[in-house]
Amino acid sequence: MMYCKTEEQIDSMRKSALLVSNTLAMIAVDLRPGITTLSLDQRINTFIRDHGAIPSFLNYHGYPFHSCISVNDVVVHGFPDKKELKEKDVVSIDIGVILNGWHGDHAYTFVLGDPGAAVMQLIRITKESLYKGIEQTIVGNRVGDISFAIQEHTEKKHGYGVVRELVGHGLGTSLHEDPQVPNYGKRGTGPKLKEGLVLAIEPMINLGKKEVFTDADGWTVRTKDGSISAHFEHDVCVRKDKAEILSNYQPIEAAEQKNPNLFTND
Ligand code: MF3
Ligand code: CO
Repeated sequence: MMYCKTEEQIDSMRKSALLVSNTLAMIAVDLRPGITTLSLDQRINTFIRDHGAIPSFLNYHGYPFHSCISVNDVVVHGFPDKKELKEKDVVSIDIGVILNGWHGDHAYTFVLGDPGAAVMQLIRITKESLYKGIEQTIVGNRVGDISFAIQEHTEKKHGYGVVRELVGHGLGTSLHEDPQVPNYGKRGTGPKLKEGLVLAIEPMINLGKKEVFTDADGWTVRTKDGSISAHFEHDVCVRKDKAEILSNYQPIEAAEQKNPNLFTND
């Protein structure tokens, strides 16, 4: 079932999405080598609750943390732990909240010191592919138009591995609503996009091959070939001429630029 939201509901969802953006920005301020991902997870929990929301990932199908922190070859669903982050780590942070009953769910990939041109290009292209998908998120298009745009930019143009096992999704009063939004597909196929539909679009892209496996912990998804993986996710509302991005990378990117421990493409 696909649920189109009213303007009032979209206002609520914008608040949820922006709380996630601000949580990611808070983390970006002092993300650095030497910090443990478990300490980041605790700060994420506190920040979300201080803002009157609930971290939605905790206990979701038994997920045991407040965020997913996926380092290097971990694609998504990485468990925060007591290991210290180190220079050149590629750190994807995915956060979900429920605020006044509405879900926000988005993600950003940070880099701790120069990991080399190939990895920086992966980061840049993965983020760009998210925006290529968002350009297609307009009334009258189909889900396949979003999927195709992401796959074209990543797999076709750059030979990266597009993960097949995990997909984007509708978002609302549930974390995962219809439709599924794969990062691969054919133009003009799949469900039609209607005004007010909110999608979490989230390319998960590997520097090497597309194959992944899940660790013995039942959650941590890794690349089979050990290559680095990147993940960017926005919450996007379908509109007539131009999609509306409910989440916001601006505060995150501003914090990233200011933090000398973080390496960026610009
Ligand atoms: N962004 C991910 C998703 O949409 C996060 C889910 S993690 C979980 O599926 F822990 F909640 F499962
Ligand atoms: Co998601």
